[in-house]
This record gives sequence, structure tokens and C-alpha cells, in this order.
Amino acid sequence: MISIAVSSQKGGVGKTTVSINLAHAFARAGVRTLLVDADPQGSVGLSLTRQSRLLAGFYDYLADPGLPLDRLIVPTRLETFSLVASGQASDYEAGGAGMGAHLARVRAFLRSVSARGFDLCLIDTAAGLFGVTGDVIASSDAIMIPQQAEPLGIRSVPKLLEGLNRLRVMNPRLSVLGVCLTMVQHDLAESTEAAAALRQLLPPDMVFQTQIPRDGLFIRASARGLPVGVLEDGAGAQVVFDSLRAEIESKLEPADHRHGYPG
Ligand SMILES: Nc1ncnc2c1ncn2[C@@H]1O[C@H](COP(=O)(O)OP(=O)(O)OP(=O)(O)O)[C@@H](O)[C@H]1O
Ligand SMILES: [Mg+2]
Repeated sequence: MISIAVSSQKGGVGKTTVSINLAHAFARAGVRTLLVDADPQGSVGLSLTRQSRLLAGFYDYLADPGLPLDRLIVPTRLETFSLVASGQASDYEAGGAGMGAHLARVRAFLRSVSARGFDLCLIDTAAGLFGVTGDVIASSDAIMIPQQAEPLGIRSVPKLLEGLNRLRVMNPRLSVLGVCLTMVQHDLAESTEAAAALRQLLPPDMVFQTQIPRDGLFIRASARGLPVGVLEDGAGAQVVFDSLRAEIESKLEPADHRHGYPG
């Protein structure tokens, strides 16, 4: 199994939107996918299952060593797609406990997910690289970083680079898949210029070729609690995530070779 954290220092950059739609793209391609909401604000759960606030979830698993993974897994209409909500447990304890406090339990979670037969565990985290998010990053195989394509966002690039370096220190075996530009507005010079500027500032292999356009469909989809691909007119928007999926697969392949596993 491969675990991928979707994280960023900044909030509101599109992590949850990318997580839901990318997980759905993998699941549609036949990859047995578990989407985990590791944000105590619970936006994946909120949008995907109405009763998710009542479900035991990821934070309950961290808080209660006796809780089995099976209690958390929520199936969807797509056989290859399951969810884990963020759950009931307060994040005060989790956040206040500091980084490293939940490392063992996060690792136990990922081992259980793998043993349950999933091919991919995609984890939507809260903004910031500390606390439980830090423990998730330290335990994952790979990370991708959504970044909003707007000038203000680009000014945070030095911080982003610093963040990338910190990630490598936190987890030396972490595969940094790169930065994914989100909310790109092709009809707005400031947005496309910001996207181009980011490509100049970061090493080429650190920025995904695929860019997520700004599209009201994504807001409509999350309001209805759905990945965009299941909307009647969502096929076009889903194509973008199919291409992001293909890019991630090709980035992960060489890493497998490096570790001596055949393709
Ligand atoms: N490609 C897009 N086109 C249009 N709107 C988008 C797009 N991506 C995200 N949004 C909207 O932008 C807002 C922030 O997106 P999202 O919740 O995915 O970000 P986030 O990084 O998960 O935020 P947080 O840090 O609060 O968890 C949401 O209202 C979402 O619907
Ligand atoms: Mg979010």
C-alpha cells in the first residue's frame, strides 16, 4: 500500500477538494482507495456523509487504542472507494500533545489499512505541518502540496521551500511528489502569471504538470457532498484529476524501482 498525505502550511489552498477528487479518480481506476479525513474540522466527512459527525473516525482511533479500524471504515457506492471521517474525539488533546505524540498510533492505523487490503490511503490533513499533521507526514510514504495560483500565494514560496526541507528532515524516506497548483484562472493574468512564477521558483520536478482550474463545479460538488466526477456535468472536471492520478503514478514508479521493487 502507498500512503499519500495532502498537506500545506497555508489554509484554504484546496487540500480537501484535491483529496476528495483525486481519491475518487484512483478509485474509479480500480485502485482500492481509502480517503482519510485527518482534519479535526472534518471537511471531507462533512461533505461526503451527512452523519459523519456521529461516526467514529481518525481522531477517535488516535485517542482509543482499543478501537478497531473496521469501526471507522465507511463504504461508498463505488466498491473501491471507502472513507474514514475525522470523528468525535477532541483535537485539543491531539494538537496540544505536540508532534510525535501520536506517531505510533498513526503508524498502527496505516498498518491496519494496509492489512485490510487497500492499495492507497490518501490523507487530507489540517493546514500546518505540526501536531497530528506532522505525525501523519512523518508516517506517510509520500506527500503532495496544493498551492493556490494567486500572487499572495506565491509570496509564500520561500516558506514553502523551507517547509519542503523540514518535511525531508521529519521523514527522510518521504517521497515529495511536489506542489500542485490549484484554483488556476486561465482568464486572469494574475493567476496564470502566479502559476508561471511558481514554476520558475521551484525545481521542475517539484511542480505537477497538471493544474486544477478554478471551477464552480467543485464548489457545487462539495455542497452536495460528492466528488465532481459524479455530477451530471462533472466529467470534464474529473478529467483533470485523472491526469493528476496518472502523474502521481508515474512519480511513484521510479521510487519503487529505487527501493528494489519491480514496476
Ligand atoms: N478548483 C477549485 N475551483 C473553485 N473552487 C475551489 C477549487 N478548489 C477549492 N475550491 C474552494 O475553495 C475553498 C477552499 O478549498 P478547500 O476546502 O479544498 O481547501 P483546504 O486547503 O482544504 O482548506 P483548509 O485548510 O481550511 O482545510 C472551498 O470553498 C472550495 O470549495
Ligand atoms: Mg481542508
